[in-house]
Amino acid sequence: MSDSRRLADPEPMEGHGFYARNSQVQAAGLSPGLPLFVASAAEVPVPDDAGPIVIADYGSADGANSLGPIGEAVAALRHRRSAQAISVVHCDLPDNDFAALFRRLNNDPGSYLRGDDAIYASAVGRSYFEQVVPSESITLGWSSWAIQWLSRLPMPIPDQLQVAYSRSAEVRAAYEHQADDDWRVFLRARGHELRPGGRLVIVTMAVDAEGKFGYEAVLAAMYGAVQKLVSDGVISSEEMRQMAIPTVGRSRDEVLAPFAEGGTFAGLRAELVEVFRGEDRIWLDYLNDHDARRFGARWAGFSRASVFPSLAAALDGGTTSARAATFVARLEAEMAARLAAAPVETYIPLVRMCLVKG
Ligand SMILES: C[S@@+](CC[C@H](N)C(=O)[O-])C[C@H]1O[C@@H](n2cnc3c(N)ncnc32)[C@H](O)[C@@H]1O
Repeated sequence: MSDSRRLADPEPMEGHGFYARNSQVQAAGLSPGLPLFVASAAEVPVPDDAGPIVIADYGSADGANSLGPIGEAVAALRHRRSAQAISVVHCDLPDNDFAALFRRLNNDPGSYLRGDDAIYASAVGRSYFEQVVPSESITLGWSSWAIQWLSRLPMPIPDQLQVAYSRSAEVRAAYEHQADDDWRVFLRARGHELRPGGRLVIVTMAVDAEGKFGYEAVLAAMYGAVQKLVSDGVISSEEMRQMAIPTVGRSRDEVLAPFAEGGTFAGLRAELVEVFRGEDRIWLDYLNDHDARRFGARWAGFSRASVFPSLAAALDGGTTSARAATFVARLEAEMAARLAAAPVETYIPLVRMCLVKG
């Protein structure tokens, strides 16, 4: 392994509507966070009529899965304040497809902007590992399927793509350390941004009480497919060694660790933290249609939309090279075929939480 080569930074989701078309698993998984978000909107202290109520969406991607949650929170706020200005700020990485987000906000019949002249949408293209909006400006925060992404890859994973399945204790410890650091940095920034009494609802990837991360067959298919691309000469073994999925699942204890001393961290209190099993929408559809090819294609599409850009970043030439397009297409096809050969249900541990600024 060449340690001198810099590991690629995590990449945003695939753009041009690809994430939107391949994020039904995320849409189903985030739904247990909705009652928490709506209840938060119903009870959070709102600014007096002079100022806007500001809602932040941390890790919006192209907004496909943001319209529903933000729309429901807006409806709950409208019961309390029928005409007060509401500002919604969608935050994502600078290279996110913000054009797709704004098109959706303007054109989607389900957009929360429809029929309400006092709602204003904007976006911030900056990492949420920094403060991204003014201090004490946010009344409500929402984040789904986002904070499992690390700020950086701490080291290569020699025997896997996803650290949860690595046999190296050293590698697992490095990722756990990075995950803990990132979580604290994220919380500190939100601690500054939230107004007193402000609430932040998060749904993110988890490990369950037995330490299980899930996605076993999907990840085995992905790793097997990448190895096949090496043996077919599509990528080099050195490129494969640099490839790692920059996500982690956090256990309930890991989520709560910063709050362990004294109950608060960065002015935030954890009101509820619950690990649950996300619904595997793709499996449920397969049980109806028995279409194994569609099953394989959908899980490959899920993987391509979310993690292939980060894998492609490890290629010589990066994500925009012609080689990257070939790599992505071959990996998707190979993965889809492997998954279609033996469809199984995917175990999807998630955690939902509600944090309150004291
Ligand atoms: C899997 S998508 C989730 C999108 C949407 N919230 C949903 O539930 O489907 C994760 C999003 O988090 C964004 N993200 C990852 N790291 C980030 C960071 N440091 N700052 C801001 N956004 C980040 C990614 O770019 C991506 O758009």
